[in-house]
Amino acid sequence: MMNTTAIATVAVTTVVALLASIYTLVYLFSNQPRSVEPSEQVSSYYDYDSKTIKKAQLPQTPLHKSELKFSIVVPSYNETERIYVMLREALEYFAQNEDYSKEISTAKDAYEILIVDDGSRDGTFQYVLDLCRQDEFFAKVLSTTNGVIRCIQLSKNRGKGGAVRHGMLHARGEYILFADADGASKFADSGKLITSIQDKTESGKAAIAIGSRAHMVNTDAVVKRSLIRNILMYGLHTLVFIFGIRSIKDTQCGFKLFNRKSMLSIFPFLHTERWIFDVEILILGIRKNIDIHEVAISWHEVDGSKVDLARDSINMAIDLVVIRLAYLFGIYKDN
Ligand SMILES: *[C@@H]1O[C@H](CO)[C@@H](O)[C@H](O)[C@H]1NC(C)=O
Repeated sequence: MMNTTAIATVAVTTVVALLASIYTLVYLFSNQPRSVEPSEQVSSYYDYDSKTIKKAQLPQTPLHKSELKFSIVVPSYNETERIYVMLREALEYFAQNEDYSKEISTAKDAYEILIVDDGSRDGTFQYVLDLCRQDEFFAKVLSTTNGVIRCIQLSKNRGKGGAVRHGMLHARGEYILFADADGASKFADSGKLITSIQDKTESGKAAIAIGSRAHMVNTDAVVKRSLIRNILMYGLHTLVFIFGIRSIKDTQCGFKLFNRKSMLSIFPFLHTERWIFDVEILILGIRKNIDIHEVAISWHEVDGSKVDLARDSINMAIDLVVIRLAYLFGIYKDN
């Protein structure tokens, strides 16, 4: 019969071995954003004065002070079919809200839309530049409101989180919205998001406003999704709940607004480049005690989602567990 010392030794060894293997697994599955190539530090835009496409260097490191009021970051992968509607809606909003063109600060532009082409293979980058050059409505609004659509091309696909991070770190706005290219959210609702964190921003505090679809769980827009999609979404929500974001109902909505201060506390530390990056953003926000406001927005399902549910839901589940444990083990750092 083993004595108690032997039993204790076996138990301790087992626990240590188990922890070491979990640590190794988390380490192996953890993500680090890839480094940025020089060509990705440059944006192209259509200049209405000289009628040519120009290139401009993006800010090399995140700016501490904003240069304009509002930046919109649009991660775009193969979006030639969908992005027109989204951009047009955004420009309609700017055409009707003269506030933005009046509030010119240090920059020449009043607002900027950053298209981060995530290594598309359908010509999204050129498509958007052509729109700026050829579409009369785009030309009229951009030149009269002093807005600019800047296109940035990632030389290799990074994943949606990587594209959003890249745009955020190179944006110049006081308010920076990340908005999906599919136009599922109503762009005019960005006004609601800004209003909800305006006080905080003006008093120099970090704040985030996120679009929420939680108020429409039982409406047509959601019920009409296929059964399998709803089941997988439900599974994902349950996992997110288990892994600790209980205070926020809709973590996945592609319509999130940051003021410069919250952008600076979150995006330099974001590790996840794939789909579940939204959750890491919110985990970072909670870790740093940043105010997060959920704002109900209009939303409708748009066809052509790039999420491959069968393959991606497993990756999402892995990334979700990895994020939580990587912060716990200190593999991910937040400062
Ligand atoms: C992106 O577009 C290219 C070219 O049209 C196509 O070959 C590829 O399958 C597309 N990828 C996705 C995920 O839609």
